[in-house]
Amino acid sequence: MNIAIDGPAGAGKSTIAKRVAGALGYIYVDTGAMYRAMALNILRNGADVSDAAAVEAVADRTDVTIAYRDGSQHVLLNGEDVTDLIRTEEVSAMASLSSANGAVRRKLVLLQQALAKKEDVVMDGRDIGTVVLPDAEVKVFLTASARTRALRRYKEDVAKAEAAGQPAPTLEETEAAIIRRDKQEMEREISPLRQAEDAVLVDSSDMTIDEVTETILDLARKAGA
Ligand code: DC
Repeated sequence: MNIAIDGPAGAGKSTIAKRVAGALGYIYVDTGAMYRAMALNILRNGADVSDAAAVEAVADRTDVTIAYRDGSQHVLLNGEDVTDLIRTEEVSAMASLSSANGAVRRKLVLLQQALAKKEDVVMDGRDIGTVVLPDAEVKVFLTASARTRALRRYKEDVAKAEAAGQPAPTLEETEAAIIRRDKQEMEREISPLRQAEDAVLVDSSDMTIDEVTETILDLARKAGA
């Protein structure tokens, strides 16, 4: 049994997917983390993201793997655990751009499909229901208004900035970044962000985390989980 959860940045996919996986005893796979690890390596190599051949050359020598420690997902980049290095705004911006590259996607999609074949998974991303797992038993398109998503991200950013003793971005900057990423991901040629025809649309703008989790668990149980 596989559960696909797609949607734009900040819709709450990872929080919800983790809970659903925990409740069902499935493995949670955060595919965004794989694109982020790849983006980190593109940044480290100083490759120009508008140069497809340069990005492809980095992708060719980048090995991304997933490991599970104490039940949480760790991302390894050429063997190095980069889990704590991939949540910066710089990596977010690069991941949104470099994930449009065909070589990057081919490599990571194969890895995602291999994981789903071995285990019962709850996988979140942008193209899981459309491309990675078109036969997933449950498909959800989880969204929320841009303002709601920006507010959620903003609160996280403020907490992070305070912890690091750095200035926090404004809500307007966070919202602008979200809208820019939405546009990039919906308008790209390969595997654009879109709702699969057989996916259930869940708008979490006015729902609690528990309500969204229950909605998806209901769908999963109806599908035989
Ligand atoms: O979910 P996230 O914000 O961690 O994802 C990081 C980037 O990776 C996001 O900007 C788009 C890209 N991505 C993708 O293209 N396809 C996926 N299945 C998951 C993420």
